[in-house]
Amino acid sequence: MAERVIPLVDQRLAALGATLPAQPIAATGLLADTLGRPLRDLRISVTDRCNFRCSYCMPKEVFDKDYQYLPHASLLSFEEITRTARQFLAHGVHKIRLTGGEPLLRKNLEILVGQLAALRTVDGTPPELTLTTNGSLLARKARVLKEAGLQRVTVSLDGLDDEIFRRMNDVDFPVAEVLDGIAAARAAGLGPIKVNMVVKRGTNEDQILPMARHFRGTGVVLRFIEYMDVGATNGWRMDEVLPSAAVRDIIHAEFPLVQLAPSAPGETAERWGYADGQGEIGLISSVTQAFCGDCNRARLSTEGKLYLCLFASNGYDLRALLRGGASDAELASAIGHIWQGRGDRYSELRSTLAADTGTGGRRVEMSYIGG
Ligand code: GTP
Ligand code: 5AD
Ligand code: SF4
Ligand code: SF4
Repeated sequence: MAERVIPLVDQRLAALGATLPAQPIAATGLLADTLGRPLRDLRISVTDRCNFRCSYCMPKEVFDKDYQYLPHASLLSFEEITRTARQFLAHGVHKIRLTGGEPLLRKNLEILVGQLAALRTVDGTPPELTLTTNGSLLARKARVLKEAGLQRVTVSLDGLDDEIFRRMNDVDFPVAEVLDGIAAARAAGLGPIKVNMVVKRGTNEDQILPMARHFRGTGVVLRFIEYMDVGATNGWRMDEVLPSAAVRDIIHAEFPLVQLAPSAPGETAERWGYADGQGEIGLISSVTQAFCGDCNRARLSTEGKLYLCLFASNGYDLRALLRGGASDAELASAIGHIWQGRGDRYSELRSTLAADTGTGGRRVEMSYIGG
């Protein structure tokens, strides 16, 4: 029998049709892709907008006042997101992360958090529910998010020096307000909190030690992220990447580190502990040490496209199914079919591919599918 293809229209990169396989694929929680990788982690982008303009993500020259963000009607509603997430959980997802853009810009996000918190994994447990934020609105929102069922937050912060940070977010946002957001999240019980610092050589590498000194012994897990070649607008250059090994050496010289065992398979961060017991840091080395081997992450864009890799050019249009009258079983079947065909491992292939032909064309922006 021929596959049923739902046609679609997309205003940015070409979308792929979400096809219904001839043989329905039931959600058993045991899905695997072509490389045997399970589906465990779902990242849901709830807005493509952000109030920051970090040059490595939404450079001002591109994301200016004329930039066309998604119109409201193309965003998945909370009900559509929850319905889709339920099918992902049936396929084995255990962790849901809300991202953006800046997710806290989405109105009434706590309502979505409440709906997602009520879902269950195949084991009957609530999904791990987390959120990645720039922290700017966290002081205002932490408590209501916690009350709605959010478990943890990860806050992006690229330095403690106010001048450097204001320059990096490019909207003159002060460090102190992000630190207030982190404090509010702690007070609300949204821990253990993680802080993500993207390291750019020549821009904020002198913030590595101040950040380590500041967060050591506080229970906050500081993670250093290698500057990545995501999207097509950030003008990425290898010589601006500071390898994680160098970050580790810088910290180790002041605070001896010991490597810790991974806490979950397919984790992005390598864990290192302070030898004196003052907590741990994470190193996310997507450029120098790819971790595609057991990548179990799926990404759902703001308008309902399923991306199989952070570096993908195209996503599969689940919204067309949702709005085209597909049943839950059909939705689950389509998701299963797409995941079973997945072979993406961009970071592992990066070095052998030409810079922007790696995934067959222009890559999607990180602000559009989330980190
Ligand atoms: P937790 O440790 O459970 O909080 O989740 P996580 O490690 O997945 O955290 P987070 O979403 O904060 O990811 C941290 C950063 O790692 C992101 O901001 C990205 O820069 C990078 N990252 C996350 N997932 C991937 C991935 O699948 N591929 C690549 N190349 N980078 C990723
Ligand atoms: N390289 C590495 N990390 C990035 N992020 C955004 N763009 C990049 C990039 N080019 C990270 C941010 C934030 C998360 C949403 O993604 O620091 O922690
Ligand atoms: Fe906004 Fe986060 Fe991108 Fe910075 S990295 S522009 S805070 S979405
Ligand atoms: Fe997963 Fe793609 Fe990142 Fe590799 S590059 S870890 S496949 S998202």
